Amino acid sequence: MKPANKAPLRFPPINGKCPHMIHGADYNPDQWLNYPDVLEEDLRLMQLARVNSASVGIFSWASLEPSDGVFAFDWLDRVMDRLADNGQFAVLATPSGSKPAWMSEAHPEVCRMTEDGHREPHGRRHNHCRTSPVYRAYCARMNTELARRYGKHPALLVWHVSNEYNGGECHCPLCHEAFREWLKKRYHNNLDALNHAWWTGFWSHTFTTWEQIRPLDSSIHGLMLDWKRFLSDQTLDFFRHECAPLREWTPDIPITTNFMGFHITLDYWSFAREVDVVSWDSYPAYHDRPLDWLRAVDVSFVHNMNRSFKQKPFMLMECTPSVQNWQPVNKLKRPGVHLLEAMQAVAHGADTVQYFQWRKSRGGFEKFHGAVVDHCGHEHTRVFREVADVGAALARMDDVTGTTTPAEVAILFDWENRWAIDGISGLSREERRYPETCTAHYRPFWSSGVPCDVINEDCDLSKYKLLITPMLYMVRPGFAERIDAFVRDGGTWVTTYLTGQVDESDLCFLNGFPGPLREILGVWAEETDTLYESDDVQIEAAPGTDCGLQGAYKADVFCDLIHTEGAKVLATYANQFYRGRPALTVHTHGKGRAYYMASRNEPRFHADFYRKLIDDLALRRVLGCELPDGVTAQVRTDGEREFIFVLGFNREPVHLDLGAAAYRDLRTGVEYRGRTTLPAYTALVLESVNSPVTA
Ligand code: GLA
Ligand code: ZN
Repeated sequence: MKPANKAPLRFPPINGKCPHMIHGADYNPDQWLNYPDVLEEDLRLMQLARVNSASVGIFSWASLEPSDGVFAFDWLDRVMDRLADNGQFAVLATPSGSKPAWMSEAHPEVCRMTEDGHREPHGRRHNHCRTSPVYRAYCARMNTELARRYGKHPALLVWHVSNEYNGGECHCPLCHEAFREWLKKRYHNNLDALNHAWWTGFWSHTFTTWEQIRPLDSSIHGLMLDWKRFLSDQTLDFFRHECAPLREWTPDIPITTNFMGFHITLDYWSFAREVDVVSWDSYPAYHDRPLDWLRAVDVSFVHNMNRSFKQKPFMLMECTPSVQNWQPVNKLKRPGVHLLEAMQAVAHGADTVQYFQWRKSRGGFEKFHGAVVDHCGHEHTRVFREVADVGAALARMDDVTGTTTPAEVAILFDWENRWAIDGISGLSREERRYPETCTAHYRPFWSSGVPCDVINEDCDLSKYKLLITPMLYMVRPGFAERIDAFVRDGGTWVTTYLTGQVDESDLCFLNGFPGPLREILGVWAEETDTLYESDDVQIEAAPGTDCGLQGAYKADVFCDLIHTEGAKVLATYANQFYRGRPALTVHTHGKGRAYYMASRNEPRFHADFYRKLIDDLALRRVLGCELPDGVTAQVRTDGEREFIFVLGFNREPVHLDLGAAAYRDLRTGVEYRGRTTLPAYTALVLESVNSPVTA
């Protein structure tokens, strides 16, 4: 068995100016310039809610530069100064998320172009061309102005570069040309290499000049995959361009840009390398189904990913204090859920809890989006009180700031793999569900209180005991070798149907799936059956095996038909023409083991299988005791002190038996031991009363 993961050290605060948890919100004082009392009232209310940071300027281009080259910083000067006077900080944005009308009018090229060559009209947001030299020049000028003016301002805490970048398509001639240049680099100016990688002999698609290439043909999978890569890379290139003046003028101010969870168009792994601190915007639709905790599992997974990107604390840049406005149904968060959601983020490594938005705008698209301050304008609201509770909780958590989470388990979530899976023509069109599949594998760990990292194919594997790679369809160069070393060295690896089918160009591996992983897994996957909802496929635990499975389980959507080549069969299909064929196998490889789950299985299968694995591998559960359904426990540590977050997402009280251990809640001071009742929607932040500091 592999040695235990070394506990990481405490990280410095995001910015040394503020060695506390950051509690903040998107703040748009520029919408209220004709309401002079509002700014002063906002500052009073921020003190009351213990909000110590305001994210400003995110959509302020029209206010900051009302016409070309004419700047109006007076209002922002005043806001920055008043924040500083008030002991608060600014997360200052660059305003490229939304461009001013004068710019689109004078330079239509800043707007994106559709596939059929139409220039998009000015309006909405997040829709500029990333290649346009004109837009880049305007951004460089604006960002330079901001950095020079506010670089030394005491309120400046973090740069919030743009807002929620996306890799949405722009088909303007500049973007197409940039794509071709990107391809020339990728294929070393070798068109034959490109034709081979894209398998263009198919349907006579061979390109004989670079100019013929247009990212418009979805039947060329390699082309579409590279186009997705390009859109992500070009957005990153744009980000770098935006950062250049900030890095030049303010090398000490950390830079972030807010990510959007599983957002499909950007490979956040590559973005994460270039930000100083990761941040993301979390908008779960809680209360959309009877069990809120199922939604919480997904959110926890994404928090884990954001912590894992840089293996250090991240920022929860946005969440709503109450309600959203863009879901099909926008339900109020139930009392207590806000604190719970905030503590959940912190539990997984957030050093900030920030909102969209501080004050509800009076008009426009987001006037009914939740905010700390409602249209009534005062603090006597349920939402304000709940936000103030979060502020009070965070104010007691200085010691948690900078701590992180050692994980013994890693689950793979890889954007390139996902793009390739989504690009497949075949199988079940609607049911690929890569993100949902990854979170389904995470659920038993959440329920057992076992911390997990989320990694991609480029990450270091050596520190984990267990690696899970759901639907590892694309295996990029080097990854098979690293899995091989991981398993040989004593690691346990679990993979599933659709593993090891294509290389980084989306070309199928020849000589049998799972391609370069075949020897490690000791199986050959010959075919994949795709099921209708009405199909009934069961799998059964093989007699005499000890892998936690008992009896039959329902399989769903995908069933690989595999042959063992040295692997041991742990479960078999119970029906269909492949009855009796292996459905779950394990192969000893070096000092480790490699499991192949041939089918997509119901949650009960995951629960039984992974809980046994957790025990077999002696993976640390954060709390020694069993957790009731809907409750998780997560940990943050600096290597010495441990902060255990018990998060209960049930609508009714549940009981938890803490056993002999005694804990004190950092937030309330209440002590817990033995049988404990968790009320509905609860967050406890516990420290052992025997720990070195509190003893
Ligand atoms: C996103 C944006 C915000 C706001 C919120 C609303 O996260 O970044 O500007 O529109 O959504 O939920
Ligand atoms: Zn473009």
